[in-house]
Formats: sequence, structure tokens, C-alpha cells
Amino acid sequence: MSRWIALFDSGVGGLSVWREVVRLLPGQPLLYLADQAHCPYGTRSLEEVQRIAQAVVAWLVEQGAELVVVACNTASAAALYTLRERFPIPIVGMEPAVKPAALRTRSGRVGVLATPATFQGEPYARLLARYARGVHVIAQPCPGWVEHVEEGRLDDPVTAELVERYVVPLCAAGVDELVLGCTHYPFLRPWIEQAAGPGVEVIDPAPAVARQVERVGGASIMSAGDAPAYRFVTTGDGARFREQLRRLIGWQGDVETATWLDGKLA
Ligand code: DGL
Repeated sequence: MSRWIALFDSGVGGLSVWREVVRLLPGQPLLYLADQAHCPYGTRSLEEVQRIAQAVVAWLVEQGAELVVVACNTASAAALYTLRERFPIPIVGMEPAVKPAALRTRSGRVGVLATPATFQGEPYARLLARYARGVHVIAQPCPGWVEHVEEGRLDDPVTAELVERYVVPLCAAGVDELVLGCTHYPFLRPWIEQAAGPGVEVIDPAPAVARQVERVGGASIMSAGDAPAYRFVTTGDGARFREQLRRLIGWQGDVETATWLDGKLA
């Protein structure tokens, strides 16, 4: 039986983590679930996202997941601690990379780009209390960005304008470190870098999360050379998801669908 590492997100954002895990662990079977029936998570209440995340992880475990990556900052903020209490497998989560940003800033000003729900969570408050002492951290929600990535509007000039709207004022306020605190945002990185200009560092935590997956999942990693087995599942529209996978990560294979019924996935 395959020893799956499973990743999930509200949609395609977690693919920015998936591609880093593939880079580091080629040959490792990966199961990816996009809960597009509930996308976006970021404007829902933390309680609701927590309920959804619990049901998603229960389903992933049923599918044989031996390690779960919550490849979503919002779901991690809402549910990481309770997921770890309930499920007896390793669960790796995401958090905005405030720590490295606070260490590297020269201006003493850091911008964090994330969903409204991520900023409301207890983990974000704890992160600031722990690592942001003496550094001014500006929290910037970015309405519309997740939707533009889901719609595949990566080359659209309207997306560039939408990115500028939130990035330019941060940089004008003296920010020299920009943290991508939502897994959808790395797909907008060219626009973010263009809007920020030189002298501003953009931090994507996905490579560090992939290293954490390698550390935590050490024993279940398959030997190099095995053919990789990848499963992609959406709770939304299969044909649309297939097209998104082709455009974002060059995946050409089949996709599966899963359905929500009475708060559970089947
Ligand atoms: N990609 C997710 C995150 O990292 C969720 C975005 C959303 O669904 O609002 O926060």
C-alpha cells in the first residue's frame, strides 16, 4: 500500500507547497486535496474553517495518509492545534514567516500578506509576541488575490493592479521584507516583486515547510527511483481543477472528485 503524504488547501494555493515537496522528495507518493467547494477559506469564521479542516483530515486519514500537510495558512491558524490533538499522525502546518523577516529587516518594518482569518487567529498573535519584538509588523489582507489565482488570471493586467493596490502602500511605509502568508500568493510572486521593486525581499515559506516535511516524515519516505504516485482530488469541478493543475504545475493526468455530505467528505 502506498504511504501517502497528504496536502490540502481550499484550492490550488497548496500546490505552491506541493511543488517544493516534490522537488525535495521525488518519488514520494502525494495525495493533494483541493477543497474548492469551500474556497475561499479566508473570509470564513475560524470555527467554520476548523470544522471543515477536521473533516478533511479525517478523510485523508481514511485514504491512507501517514502525514498531513495543512498547506494553507488559514486552516493552520484555525485548526492546527486541534488537528494534532485528534489525529495520531504527524501534521505539518503553515505560519506566516514573521521570524525570518524580523531577523532580516534593516528598516525595522515588515509587511505580512495573508487572509483576514489568518490575522484573527491566536497563532498569529502568538507569532508576533514571540518574534516581532522591536519590529513594526504591518498586517495586510489582500481581498481578491485568492480568487484571481483560482480563476487562473495570472497574466491579467487587472491582477497586476490588484497586487499593486496592497503592495505599493506597504513599501511606501518603509517595509523591506514582505511575507507571503497565504499559499496562493506565491503564484502572484512576479507581480508582487514588480510592485515592491528592488530592495524589498519577498519571503515564501514553502521551501522551509518542505524541509520540515522531510524531517518529520523521514521514516515513511520512499526510496529514490520509484515511480512517483500522485493523486489530485477536488471537492469542486474536476474539469476545471484539471486545467488549473496543467497551468500551475504542468500536471497532465487524471483528477478525482470527492463530495461533501452532512459535513463529511465521501
Ligand atoms: N491558501 C490559503 C491560505 O494559505 C487559503 C486561501 C483562502 O481560501 O482564502 O491561507
